[in-house]
Amino acid sequence: VQPDAEWAREVRELAAQRDAVLLAHNYQLPEIQDIADHTGDSLALSRIAADSTASTIVFCGVHFMAETAKILSPGKTVLIPDERAGCSLADSITAEQLREWRGRHPDAVVVSYVNTTAEVKAETDICCTSSNAVEVVRSVPADREVLFCPDQFLGAHVRRMTGRSNMHVWAGECHVHAGINGAELAERAAAEPDAELFVHPECGCATSALYLAGTGAVDDERVKILSTGGMLEAARTSGADSVLVATEVGMLHQLRRAAPDIDFRAVNDRASCRYMKMITPAALLRCLREGADEVRVAERTAQRARASVERMVRIGN
Ligand code: 13P
Ligand code: SF4
Repeated sequence: VQPDAEWAREVRELAAQRDAVLLAHNYQLPEIQDIADHTGDSLALSRIAADSTASTIVFCGVHFMAETAKILSPGKTVLIPDERAGCSLADSITAEQLREWRGRHPDAVVVSYVNTTAEVKAETDICCTSSNAVEVVRSVPADREVLFCPDQFLGAHVRRMTGRSNMHVWAGECHVHAGINGAELAERAAAEPDAELFVHPECGCATSALYLAGTGAVDDERVKILSTGGMLEAARTSGADSVLVATEVGMLHQLRRAAPDIDFRAVNDRASCRYMKMITPAALLRCLREGADEVRVAERTAQRARASVERMVRIGN
């Protein structure tokens, strides 16, 4: 299937017939981002899904994102073009492991990143995304312990920003972001002294970026730790000529559209998420033709997960 004009026409026609809104995460293939009604980061897309009046949501992203939309809108049909689009970070903690961890800290507040299964969300007090993780943890009274899961790098970033010592962090990671390492970042930053650095907090190099700034090796002003949505906002107001981007490479498409005069380059151009890329033009067409794959969440799990996801949607900008 070629993502040509004929493909685009059929996608739009089928979406209209199904009364479907098409949502695409910033890491999707460029042609999927371009055909979508809305693109955005995890938090923005969750909010759009919850507010949409369409009866069907087609989620071009990974499974936990579509599941989150279903949790927020149980009455809507939620479709994902390929249900095998998982997430290595979401796989790094199970509900059973979280229950066991929580059992050892019975008074703690559990904060889970949205990159988790519905079952893990059901064991969670408040969910967060990379755009509001700091605010979510700040919303927890200072004398309560926090259990933060599953991403260790985002957890370390939040701990640094909040200065919180009573916060325990699960040792999970995203294979794509963990692979963007500090040595690579330091080398690129030194070779391109005028470039700004946009770094996603899930990156293994997020700590190195701040370390470099802290040691004066890189000017403080150059380093920005941002969610994918935050990167787009920063791009629109940046005066830089070039920006080094440490996140999944799909992000470059929206960044280049947002600020065509800036030269955006990936710190690691092999940082591609194979799960995100399962949502191909052919998969989207099949999804709209057949009404599959449909995302379902068991009612009891969804009910318990909804409270933590609704808190997430309310906190932060
Ligand atoms: P955000 O879009 O919320 O920054 O999340 C990044 C991510 O890794 C999603 O899988
Ligand atoms: Fe999960 Fe990482 Fe892919 Fe995001 S980039 S969907 S965190 S595996």
